[in-house]
Amino acid sequence: MGDNVQARGALQQLKAYSPGKPIWEVQREFGLTTVVKLASNENPLGPSPRALEAIASAMSDLHRYPDAQTIDLRKSIAGKFDLPAEQIIVTNGGDELITLVSEAFLEEGDEVIVPGPSFSEYEFAGKLMCARIITIPLSANYEYDVEAMLDAVSERTKIMFLCSPNNPTGTILRKAQLQRLLDALPKRILVVLDTAYSHYVTADDYTDGIEYVKAGYPLLCLRTFSKAYGLAGIRVGYGIAPESIIRSIVQVKEPFNVNALAQVAAAAAILDDQHVEASSRLVQEERQRLYGLLRQLGIPYTESMSNFILIKPGASAERLCRQLMESGVIVRFGGGWGLPDHIRITVGLPEENDMLMDKLRELHSLS
Ligand SMILES: Cc1ncc(COP(=O)(O)O)c(C=O)c1O
Repeated sequence: MGDNVQARGALQQLKAYSPGKPIWEVQREFGLTTVVKLASNENPLGPSPRALEAIASAMSDLHRYPDAQTIDLRKSIAGKFDLPAEQIIVTNGGDELITLVSEAFLEEGDEVIVPGPSFSEYEFAGKLMCARIITIPLSANYEYDVEAMLDAVSERTKIMFLCSPNNPTGTILRKAQLQRLLDALPKRILVVLDTAYSHYVTADDYTDGIEYVKAGYPLLCLRTFSKAYGLAGIRVGYGIAPESIIRSIVQVKEPFNVNALAQVAAAAAILDDQHVEASSRLVQEERQRLYGLLRQLGIPYTESMSNFILIKPGASAERLCRQLMESGVIVRFGGGWGLPDHIRITVGLPEENDMLMDKLRELHSLS
């Protein structure tokens, strides 16, 4: 009966996001008890304990609608960055912010410049608004090709998405490169700098972009509570930008887009420096251990500034991915990014990484 109802033409261009298999499904499918998931760049230490306490104390108020303006949380974020709360918008994860930005700024036929390979939601959100996606490949070693990104600018360019550290490569946009882009781009172009993984960066020439928002550039910095704060399941992200940009995004958001538990959890988590430090220390130490094994096995990898590592086992990547899953380690095959020789592995707890390394050793010696 519903067949006569036509969906928007734009939907034919959309590729569904593929989140990968959850632990329970792999357990059931392969009859396994121990399964580790190193596929979604989550925080293996769990949620910030301060967030959990805040959630528990807010439960009895769940019959009330949440604060539509997320005032307390925006104040906490504003305090953290020494910015006015008017320059902050809170959303249902960073994902929602990407869609809202597209809804607020893109007309049909506008152009959106994105790096490739990168996070697929930029393309999804642009296509949803019937924009043209211009993908500029990263250069050798997955560095940003800033001049190529500038060359791609046209009269119709409306948004440029940048992801640093970039998912799935783990490489960063250097501070001088962001400066070059911001100075050279026409000021009518909104630059979105996605810094979902900023807490894991150790490079000196990194910037999370906030200083450039303060300097007044048309820049929106996207951040999330899903990674270092360990709150992926409750869905909170936020954007920091000049006030007029934030006002336009607020116009298209649903009033109650961030639920009450998420708001209190995030406000508590942002004060939990201990949890964030423990999370980033774990990733930095374990990254080194994983590199050590990859070097031993002769599997090429890209040095990562994030909580995941892109490895290049070559033509056997898809098979290796499947074999790892069958032995209880879920990782992400690179095919979806046009990287069929690659696998992306999230850095887990030491014991999870041990299991991954044992399986990798076993499977690699057989191949
Ligand atoms: C680069 C990047 N940006 C944004 C997000 C969105 O995160 P969330 O919607 O959980 O805040 C992710 C999630 O994996 C990501 O990898």
